[in-house]
Amino acid sequence: MTFAHTLLVVFYRTMSTASTILTPLGVRGMKILEREKFIRKIQTPVLKVPAEKLSKITPNCKDYFLKLENFKPVQNDSDNKLKCIFFNPDKISMYTDISENHRQGLLHVGVTENNFELKDIQLSYENWSYGTIFKAVLPENEDIVSGFTQVGHIIHLNLKDHLLEYRTLIGQVLVDKIKSCRTVVNKSSIIDNTYRNFSMEVIAGEEDFIVTVKENQCNFMFNFSEVYWNSRLGQEHERILSFLKPGDVLFDVFCGVGPFAIPAVKKKCKVFANDLNPDSFKWLNHNANLNKLNMSLFKSYNLDGKDFILNNFKEYITDYCLGKEKLEKGAKLHITMNLPAIAVEFLKYFNGLIEDQSLDEKLDFEIIVYVYCFAPGDAVLAAKTMVIENIGCDISDDIIDIYDVRNVSPKKEMIRVTFRLSKKVLFSVRNSDSEPPKKKLCLENE
Ligand SMILES: C[S@@+](CC[C@H](N)C(=O)[O-])C[C@H]1O[C@@H](n2cnc3c(N)ncnc32)[C@H](O)[C@@H]1O
Ligand SMILES: *[C@@H]1O[C@H](CO)[C@@H](O)[C@H](O)[C@H]1NC(C)=O
Ligand SMILES: *[C@@H]1O[C@H](CO)[C@@H](O)[C@H](O)[C@H]1NC(C)=O
Ligand SMILES: *[C@@H]1O[C@H](CO)[C@@H](O)[C@H](O)[C@H]1NC(C)=O
Ligand SMILES: *[C@@H]1O[C@H](CO)[C@@H](O)[C@H](O)[C@H]1NC(C)=O
Ligand SMILES: *[C@@H]1O[C@H](CO)[C@@H](O)[C@H](O)[C@H]1NC(C)=O
Ligand SMILES: *[C@@H]1O[C@H](CO)[C@@H](O)[C@H](O)[C@H]1NC(C)=O
Repeated sequence: MTFAHTLLVVFYRTMSTASTILTPLGVRGMKILEREKFIRKIQTPVLKVPAEKLSKITPNCKDYFLKLENFKPVQNDSDNKLKCIFFNPDKISMYTDISENHRQGLLHVGVTENNFELKDIQLSYENWSYGTIFKAVLPENEDIVSGFTQVGHIIHLNLKDHLLEYRTLIGQVLVDKIKSCRTVVNKSSIIDNTYRNFSMEVIAGEEDFIVTVKENQCNFMFNFSEVYWNSRLGQEHERILSFLKPGDVLFDVFCGVGPFAIPAVKKKCKVFANDLNPDSFKWLNHNANLNKLNMSLFKSYNLDGKDFILNNFKEYITDYCLGKEKLEKGAKLHITMNLPAIAVEFLKYFNGLIEDQSLDEKLDFEIIVYVYCFAPGDAVLAAKTMVIENIGCDISDDIIDIYDVRNVSPKKEMIRVTFRLSKKVLFSVRNSDSEPPKKKLCLENE
């Protein structure tokens, strides 16, 4: 089983001046990976110390350890009574490079410059980290900041133009170095299609897009090229789940493959989950089985969010008011709307949704909406305005929280507006259906 996690790598500006010992040589500009070219013999400082004193010695040496892949900085010496401590040659070249304090500590247990010597070792491709390899291979003196994200066994890169010619090498190194990674793809950073998935081109590893990830104690399986998934949302999913209590109801209008819906059922909520993408719907149902959900608490739909609200949500409210649906006392109904680019545009469907005014007094539970939107920099006010304009009603007093979920790009925040969906909105009287929703007022019935 692989777990979704997010890695952010920053390839810092490589410094041309500081010639480091601990780096492969002669590989700059390599485009086709030749692993044997990464062999390098180096001289590294070591401290040979009595094995039985090791625990008192290492605290004074830790800061200088030689850290490499497949390499232990403390090893047995050929003389089995001694241990060999390897130092990073970029930090230590002579004994006095060890700090005064640490040398005092070493002297205390009888370790002196006499224990210090230089040793030849041979390093190969297996011993360099991917960061070291990229620094040695990719163009020098350029800001080559690049990020990558891992979802299951797939790493997706979003490479800057000047690195495109290195993409095969970069991909291959990541497959080699990151154990849980079997596939590396490049993708365009913009996802603006309806289903929020992106086309991916395999640049290294297997052409297998079916991933399994774990989030909030549930397993999710899906074809990553067909559906939306963002491992950076795990915490936000968790926050919403923390607001749900057993016996509550969740309507997830844009549910994807189920990161709100599936764990919510596990929390004994009754869940109505909807997504327009037929493949999301397919994997959502797959995940319901995978997590052995109690199916009497789970219903899935493959509808446009508009119809889901106008028909399914409305029907639930109506049925409840007519006594056909029951809720425990104090239970709440939650509505999640995570389609930040356009979710607010669906708010208008709540305005005046219930025409039968006689139901008003029967509706006795709280409805909380969690709607997401994108807003610029200082986004709180912009988000609030967007919600109010779209629902067509001043709901300021019903806003519970405006939360900055994450920074998407320099001037773009993902914001969640949490508000109480009041009877004033649901039972608002429609004067004329042709009236644009933004102008429509919420008129309370007398
Ligand atoms: C940003 S994703 C969110 C998925 C999931 N809730 C999550 O948090 O990861 C938005 C989802 O809305 C779906 N979608 C897009 N337009 C829709 C519509 N008009 N009605 C219902 N779902 C829609 C997409 O297929 C996508 O799965
Ligand atoms: C290192 O030496 C210890 C005894 O001092 C021994 O128990 C251990 O197996 C040795 N380790 C290796 C990798 O040789
Ligand atoms: C480098 O890694 C290889 C492969 O795991 C390992 O056999 C070798 O001992 C390592 N090199 C050093 C100097 O430890
Ligand atoms: C991946 O990179 C190649 C090479 O630049 C490019 O042609 C292709 O469009 C990229 N794929 C995506 C999905 O961006
Ligand atoms: C999104 O996924 C659908 C299948 O669900 C696929 O047909 C489509 O090509 C994908 N879109 C992109 C941009 O890859
Ligand atoms: C995953 O989805 C892509 C795009 O729809 C498709 O080409 C591929 O065959 C799918 N993979 C599997 C194993 O279903
Ligand atoms: C499934 O949920 C229903 C409704 O809450 C409940 O009556 C039933 O006992 C649950 N079944 C199991 C196996 O937990």
